[in-house]
Amino acid sequence: MSKKIFLSGVQPSGKPHIGNYFGAMKQFVDLQNEHEGYVFIADYHALHSLRNPKEMNENIKNVLLDYLAIGLDPEKVTFFKQSDISEHTELTWIFDTITTVPNLMLAHAFKARVDEIGVENFFKEKNEKGYDTFKELVSRVFKGIDVGTFNYPVLMAADILLYTPDLVPVGADQKQHVEIARDIADKFNNVYGETFKLPEPMILKEVAIVPGTDGRKMSKSYGNTIPLFAEYEEIKKCVMSIVTDSSGGIPQNVYAIHKLVRSETELKKIYEEKAGKYKDLKELLVEDLEKFIAPLRERRKEFAKDIPKALAILKEGGKKAKLIASKKMDQVRAKVGVNIYEK
Ligand code: ADP
Ligand code: TRP
Repeated sequence: MSKKIFLSGVQPSGKPHIGNYFGAMKQFVDLQNEHEGYVFIADYHALHSLRNPKEMNENIKNVLLDYLAIGLDPEKVTFFKQSDISEHTELTWIFDTITTVPNLMLAHAFKARVDEIGVENFFKEKNEKGYDTFKELVSRVFKGIDVGTFNYPVLMAADILLYTPDLVPVGADQKQHVEIARDIADKFNNVYGETFKLPEPMILKEVAIVPGTDGRKMSKSYGNTIPLFAEYEEIKKCVMSIVTDSSGGIPQNVYAIHKLVRSETELKKIYEEKAGKYKDLKELLVEDLEKFIAPLRERRKEFAKDIPKALAILKEGGKKAKLIASKKMDQVRAKVGVNIYEK
């Protein structure tokens, strides 16, 4: 029986932390042994929020090194860059023509931007002041929202459907986008005949929500992270800053991070023996994190010594992806009726 296919995209967006690793990155490495895989750097998606070319360039290279360092194996997974495969944006246009505006208006990233600007306030004001034209609604409420944000789920649908994956492993926040991809595939199949396979989202387990040093979800935007490739001193600094309660006993925030890198059976014993001794427990966590992080950090440094080699891996992945994507795109062009030349 042929292996099932998984596909996922990662935005090139800054330094990963251990929350990203346990919540998302690690799963790709786990899946690669039993599945055929496609993992790509979603640089065109990132463009909607990143407009600094130098930073974009660096982020792409960093993400490449990050994933090679954690053990993504280019022999098992086709690892490539979205912008190398023009079929992604080409298929986006075709999907645009069968996707309705309300479908995308309800997509959460767009809706969140509208909520930020305050559609409700607009309507309240409208009632009070008698604003009433469509033009006003559009220019006041939607002002500043780029079409890329609006269209983001369609590009994501193209990313996915070109490669006929069975599974799309994503964080819970991306589930809606995979559902939109299914809707688009279904619509296309209905209009033009069976062409796309409907993918299943594979929601990465909730248990994997990693708390940060302040006890909230670990997130770049909260500044409470432990970087995945941190040096020893940085690990120490982060761990020592973990917020503990003053009630004695087991420091929950320390334990929650600790259990990612050491078995709970061992930890329960240790934490009972050292109940209330926060400093000792934190010191132990520093050592255990160092044991886990050091090999990843060293691997990353090795790859960073030879950037052209790392780039060649990505380029090679792009060639493999291109073959699949261009074949699918030929099929799509034929289905919509624009393919008029004899082979
Ligand atoms: P951040 O919140 O740091 O900006 P992203 O939103 O870029 O992280 O998340 C990238 C991926 O990592 C997503 O799939 C997300 O679900 C996962 N992730 C982020 N933070 C955590 C966390 N604290 N625990 C588990 N998974 C996480
Ligand atoms: N939007 C995803 C994120 O921000 C990244 C992404 C782009 C993706 N295209 C994809 C994920 C296709 C899965 C499949 O995390």
